[in-house]
Amino acid sequence: MVVTGGASGIGLACARAFSREGASVALWDIQEEAGKAAVREICSQGGTAEFFLCDMTEEAQIGEAASRTCRAFGRMDVLVGNAGIAERKTMLEDMDMNDFRRVINVNLTGVVMSNKYAVKYMMQNPGPVRGSVVNVASILGMVGAPMSTAYPAAKAAVINFTRAQAVTYGPLGIRFNSISPGYVNTPLLKNLPEELIHSRVALHPMGRFAEPAEIAEAVLFLAGPSASFITGSNLAADGGYTAQ
Ligand code: NAI
Repeated sequence: MVVTGGASGIGLACARAFSREGASVALWDIQEEAGKAAVREICSQGGTAEFFLCDMTEEAQIGEAASRTCRAFGRMDVLVGNAGIAERKTMLEDMDMNDFRRVINVNLTGVVMSNKYAVKYMMQNPGPVRGSVVNVASILGMVGAPMSTAYPAAKAAVINFTRAQAVTYGPLGIRFNSISPGYVNTPLLKNLPEELIHSRVALHPMGRFAEPAEIAEAVLFLAGPSASFITGSNLAADGGYTAQ
């Protein structure tokens, strides 16, 4: 399996969870030190993992990572399109279009390109079941949030891009689903001011943020055979955030 953004947070938790279930794990990320440390950790516990330095905004690097992953592991059957960045909160009239494009490039175009190369290799697997893609979206792709611009635009697009691929590839044996986490305790939230953390926690009926491992378990479910008839869905893993 491949997890983009596998060096940290939710992606790292996915790498650990899939390895626990016996998968060979390819971590694609721009953080080389952290990615290699994750590989050492997984391998020291008897798992199989490799790190591939890959910037999700560079199509040539994604193509290269996909081809090297398949050479290393023989095939690709699961992709978790997880790499993403936070945005600088702003009023629309003050928005810097370079910031906007940067977030769209990683959080949307990066997901699209990783899916493109995953499908290319999954289609080489014998049918009828060829592969499964889980893209990490967000509650902010489902509901609005103050001072948000590019991030919700990208995440909503990821959700509906994923549905569209589910429709196209359903007959061809590749399932596509997205997951929309609520707030998760990861380095992505490091710039969130303390007072904002309390107000955001209060928006989750369960009264807390998720741990990355809780999201990874839901990704594992969607990616694997337990979800064999689930495609085109967007699973809210959000402690009730979008239920109210
Ligand atoms: P994180 O910052 O811990 O991990 C993100 C990983 O993506 C990092 O390892 C980073 O190096 C990698 N990455 C960033 N840009 C990249 C690029 N251009 N190419 C390759 N790798 C790149 O963040 P976290 O929280 O684990 O985020 C993972 C996903 O979950 C993101 O898509 C994020 O939008 C989404 N998410 C996170 C939530 C949260 O509250 N932490 C809530 C909802 C969704």
